Amino acid sequence: MLLFREKIPADWLPKVLGHLPEVLVDHAHLERKAATTALTLEKYRDLFGRVEELNAIAIEELQHFQLVLSLLKKRGIPFGQPHPSPWIAGLMRSIRNGQRHQVIDHLICCALIEARSCEKFQVLGRALADIDAELSTFYNSLVESEGNHYATYILMARAVNDAETDQRLDFYLNLDADLIRQGSPAPILH
Ligand SMILES: [Fe+2]
Ligand SMILES: [Fe+2]
Repeated sequence: MLLFREKIPADWLPKVLGHLPEVLVDHAHLERKAATTALTLEKYRDLFGRVEELNAIAIEELQHFQLVLSLLKKRGIPFGQPHPSPWIAGLMRSIRNGQRHQVIDHLICCALIEARSCEKFQVLGRALADIDAELSTFYNSLVESEGNHYATYILMARAVNDAETDQRLDFYLNLDADLIRQGSPAPILH
């Protein structure tokens, strides 16, 4: 797994646990965006040969989206507006232009989002065990899938250019750490 250079901030977990309905709505949007992003990646010429793998990820993310929507419905939580994420916006803003640069940066950003989701779902699964068994089981059940998405995206970037991926991964791990230190007041997953 990826070695992040900054820990999840100490105030993240209490903030999330204190706003679970809002967090579930945010999570629903996150899965929706993960599904559309997998399809967006299919626009890159370097990924034309990976279109079926990307479709499989999009289908899985859409299933995750459905699962969160079912939880919302069951709990009487309305599906609403997403909170913007300064962390995701910060990563995406630094995607360079130019066919090969863009595809590698985009894949690394997606990989980092998947890896942070994997890490945070693990933390949530543990923390919720005594508070909300259903949600705990749900978060634990997503960990492996998001971890696999992380690995797939990194391998796709490496297949385009291994050395460039190493170099940009170094850049993005520093950016991730900087953005994490800036923090975010909203009760959101990222
Ligand atoms: Fe997902
Ligand atoms: Fe994912």
